[in-house]
Amino acid sequence: MDRLNGIMKAFGIHQYNTPLVALDLPLPPPPGSRQIAVRVITTTINPVDMLISQGYGSGLLNRRKRFPQMLGRDGVGVVTAVGAGVKGFSVGQRVMFAISPRTGGAYAEYIVVGENCAQPLPEQISDELGAAISYAGATALQALKAAGLTPQNAAGRTVCINGASGGLGSVAVLAASSWGAKVIAVCSSKNHEWVLRLGASQAIDYRDAAAMSSIKANVIFNAAPPVEDKHVFRDPLSSCLEPQLGHKPSYVTVISPILGLVSIVGVLPGLLLSGVDFARRQVSFTFEGRRYRWVLFHESASTLSELAQLFAKYPTAQIVRRCEPISELPALFNGNEVAKGPGKLVFRWGQ
Ligand SMILES: NC(=O)c1ccc[n+]([C@@H]2O[C@H](COP(=O)([O-])OP(=O)(O)OC[C@H]3O[C@@H](n4cnc5c(N)ncnc54)[C@H](OP(=O)(O)O)[C@@H]3O)[C@@H](O)[C@H]2O)c1
Repeated sequence: MDRLNGIMKAFGIHQYNTPLVALDLPLPPPPGSRQIAVRVITTTINPVDMLISQGYGSGLLNRRKRFPQMLGRDGVGVVTAVGAGVKGFSVGQRVMFAISPRTGGAYAEYIVVGENCAQPLPEQISDELGAAISYAGATALQALKAAGLTPQNAAGRTVCINGASGGLGSVAVLAASSWGAKVIAVCSSKNHEWVLRLGASQAIDYRDAAAMSSIKANVIFNAAPPVEDKHVFRDPLSSCLEPQLGHKPSYVTVISPILGLVSIVGVLPGLLLSGVDFARRQVSFTFEGRRYRWVLFHESASTLSELAQLFAKYPTAQIVRRCEPISELPALFNGNEVAKGPGKLVFRWGQ
C-alpha cells in the first residue's frame, strides 16, 4: 500500500475469461452514511468469484461492464473509519464481513462496506476462521433457516447435506449437528473424516448409488455444484425426503438457474424463465406436501451475528483447509484450487 499516494494493492480481472491479476488501485473513498472502512486481514475464494470472472451472470452482476472488476466477497479486517449514523462499530475493532455478488472488492487492502454487511468478530474466532465462515457460512445459515430448521426445532430431525465437505456444507454440518439434528453428509469418501469431525452422524459418497438411494431425511440442503454442465439444474436427492410429525419435509438448494439463464438469454427473459422454472418446481413439491426453496445469499448483519455466536462456541472447528499469503491468490484462483476441497482456502495480507 502507498497511502501517501492514495494507492492500494488489490486483485481483479481486466476482462472476462482472463486471469486474476494484481492491481494498483485508488484507495476507496471515506465511508458514507451507514458504512465502515476496513483494512482487510484475511479473505477467501468462493466459487461465485470463479463464475463471475468467466462473465457468468454479468448482465445482473456487472451491468455497466466496469473493468478492472475487483473480486472477493468476504473477509476479516480492522475498522479504520466509520461513516455517519453507524452504531456498534468503532475504529480498531476486528470485524467479519460478507458482501453481495453485485459488489465485490474484498481482494484489496482496504474496502468500504455497509454496516449491514459486517459484524464484530468475537476474540475466540481467528482471522482465518472468521473469513472462512462469512459468505459461505451466511449462505448456509440462510439456507437452513429457509428449510425451517432452527436451534429450537432441530433435535430429532434428520438433515441431509449434499456437498457437505465444501465451504457451505462444512458450516451447515456443524450448525445442524450442534443444534441437535442427525446429519447425513454427502461428499467424496476422501472427505468423510472431515465431515464426521464436524458432527455428521453418517457420511455417504455421491458415487455410491445404493447408499444414495437409501437416504431418508426430513430436510435436504443441496450445496453441490452441477457437475456435468453448469447450465443443467436438477434437485438431487429430492426423492429421499420423508415427512415427520409436525414439520413439512423441506428441500432447499443454493443451486439455481438464474445466473445461467441471464447469461444465455439476457436479464429480463432470464429472470422470467427462472421464475417459471421455480414456480414449476415449487408447485410439484407443494402438491406432494413438501416445502421447496431456492436460497440466494443476502447481506445480513443478523446472520453474521448468529454465525459469530455459533463459532464462538466452536473456535477450533476445522472449516479452513489452508491459509496462504495473499501473494498466492492469483495462482490458486487461476488454478481453480477452490474446487479441490474440502473446506475453505483463506488468504492473509501481511504477516
Ligand atoms: N445461491 C447462493 O447465493 C450461493 C452462495 C454461495 C455458494 N453458492 C453455490 O453453492 C455451491 C457450493 O458452494 P461452496 O462454497 O460450498 O463450494 P465448494 O467449497 O467448492 O464445495 C462444493 C462441494 O461439493 C462437493 N461435490 C462436488 N460434486 C458433487 C456431487 N456430484 N454431489 C455431491 N457433492 C459434490 C465437493 O465435495 P467433494 O470434494 O467431497 O467431492 C465440494 O466440497 C457452489 O456451486 C456455489 O456456487 C450459491
